[in-house]
Amino acid sequence: SLVDKANYRHFMAKEIHEQPEVVGHTLARYVDMATERIALPVKLPFDFKDIQRISIVACGTASYAGYVGKYWIERFGRLPVELDVASEFRYREAPLRKGDLAIFISQSGETADTLAALRYAKAEGVHTLSVVNVATSTIARESETVLQTLAGPEIGVASTKAFTCQLMVLAAIAVAAGKARGELSDADENRLVKGLVEIPRLMAAALSTEPQIEKLAREIAKHKDVVYLGRGTSYPLALEGALKLKEISYIHAEGYAAGELKHGPIALIDENMPVVVIAPHDKVFEKTVSNMQEVAARGGNIILMTDARGAAEATVDSLVTIVLPDMASAFTPMVYAVPVQLLAYHTAVVMGTDVDQPRNLAKSVTVE
Ligand code: AGP
Repeated sequence: SLVDKANYRHFMAKEIHEQPEVVGHTLARYVDMATERIALPVKLPFDFKDIQRISIVACGTASYAGYVGKYWIERFGRLPVELDVASEFRYREAPLRKGDLAIFISQSGETADTLAALRYAKAEGVHTLSVVNVATSTIARESETVLQTLAGPEIGVASTKAFTCQLMVLAAIAVAAGKARGELSDADENRLVKGLVEIPRLMAAALSTEPQIEKLAREIAKHKDVVYLGRGTSYPLALEGALKLKEISYIHAEGYAAGELKHGPIALIDENMPVVVIAPHDKVFEKTVSNMQEVAARGGNIILMTDARGAAEATVDSLVTIVLPDMASAFTPMVYAVPVQLLAYHTAVVMGTDVDQPRNLAKSVTVE
């Protein structure tokens, strides 16, 4: 076949390891390295200045990329973003303002609910922009503007490299929106683009946590439930971590915003519960640390994914601390996605499931 597993046991492993390269390709398509500016490959048929609200619509992992995109666009563009899963968006008859923008995110470009949502948005008279991996797909063909992810063919049912490439495109959109709306200066843009240019190297460094994660997976595989926590852009990553683990290892997992812990899920915590905390040393780090203390006080087993500074400052006993590279930018989700994916992958391998073709699932969901 055209695509093989090279020396990997599963497509998923190969696709996780390809990420520094394909995210780098995607970066090169959206950024002008020489001037350190965003350079979208197509001219947008609208001006971000005229957009009052963006709707982002997708399913599954693509919707979690969209969730991160919402945080970035709101932060850099000061532009309100609504995020919906396509199966809800298409039937709730969301009121859309003519001339606003809807963004559809899909690896395959064939997901039935996302396609139906796109058709609804077009009929409502909003601009439609799709972030798709398959350039010849139906969603790409029917969208007003297409921004392609250059992940290459993704074979594993669990989406990995498509996700991080989607994040790269959404980061470019967010910075472009900030620039167009006068919220970011040229200097801000240069600083943010420098941060994006660092990402492939940081993702490669994140891959070196694999031996440690392989060991951790043997521990996780003994459990029936796992909780994932994160704040800010690490919150959608907590949702993604839980989805990935469920999908391929069949271990039940829940992702929560760390601040929601005391509104219910804390009742689940006892000395048997592994709690994966995704917490780069960012603006909300201290808040996440206090949530970790609440988990520790109830005997929960904390698996902390952070950077060197976070590891030094987290005043909590963790079972395992996975130390990711220090990074100055707001683009941590692309780097933290790596250990999150590796943990799901290695746990599934320990469980002996069919990693690339998990039960009950299809690579692209073309039926409702
Ligand atoms: C991800 O691991 C899942 N297999 C699934 O959630 C997937 O992301 C979703 O079905 C969306 O697919 P698409 O990106 O092809 O539209």
